[in-house]
Amino acid sequence: LFAGPVDFVKGVVAMDGLPDADRIEVCFAGRSNVGKSSLINALTGRKGIARASNTPGRTQEINYFSLGEERFLVDLPGYGYANAPLAVVEKWQRLLKRYLSGRQTLRRAFVLVDCRHGVKPVDEEIMALLDSSAVTFQCVMTKADKVKESDREAILTQVRAALSKHPAAFPEIVMTSSEKGDGIATLRAIIAGLV
Ligand code: GTP
Ligand code: MG
Repeated sequence: LFAGPVDFVKGVVAMDGLPDADRIEVCFAGRSNVGKSSLINALTGRKGIARASNTPGRTQEINYFSLGEERFLVDLPGYGYANAPLAVVEKWQRLLKRYLSGRQTLRRAFVLVDCRHGVKPVDEEIMALLDSSAVTFQCVMTKADKVKESDREAILTQVRAALSKHPAAFPEIVMTSSEKGDGIATLRAIIAGLV
């Protein structure tokens, strides 16, 4: 699946701009700067297909990428702190919440959590929203290269405890580094296995 074509489809700024719901999709949600766009680049092997940057609030639209003919990958704006005007941030946060609770073809939301920070209250808020709309979500830890292997277990314990409170959480946590490639093959296989 990931050896085939990947194309940018469109950037969406309002619910009525979403592409036809004619195939399944997965989305990448998480705090600003957690590494959503970088993960899409790593998964597709197309550096720069999703724009990443060190400035929180880089992705400001819902960006659709087609993966073969049967799937979309969806890069979302981040939540939490963003380096952008408040009115703009509020607009995209509303869109984000509408999208997460109202997209019929959304098969799984990947909720990205920075290995160094663990699950924060804003993440819990998004997880609660996914619970209430019955969207299965799976936690993906990012930037594994920034944390020593010996320190990872402590953060995983915190994340597991947080996930256990959320009925829509898929129990398996995927540890990734977009920089070094850890977990990328695992995540590709998970996405390819969704029907
Ligand atoms: P917003 O669009 O602003 O919400 O951010 P985002 O979640 O899309 O994050 P993005 O992919 O733009 O990455 C943010 C920063 O983290 C960039 O400087 C990336 O290079 C860096 N980054 C992302 N993934 C990794 C990783 O696995 N390891 C390391 N070391 N840095 C990473
Ligand atoms: Mg981004």
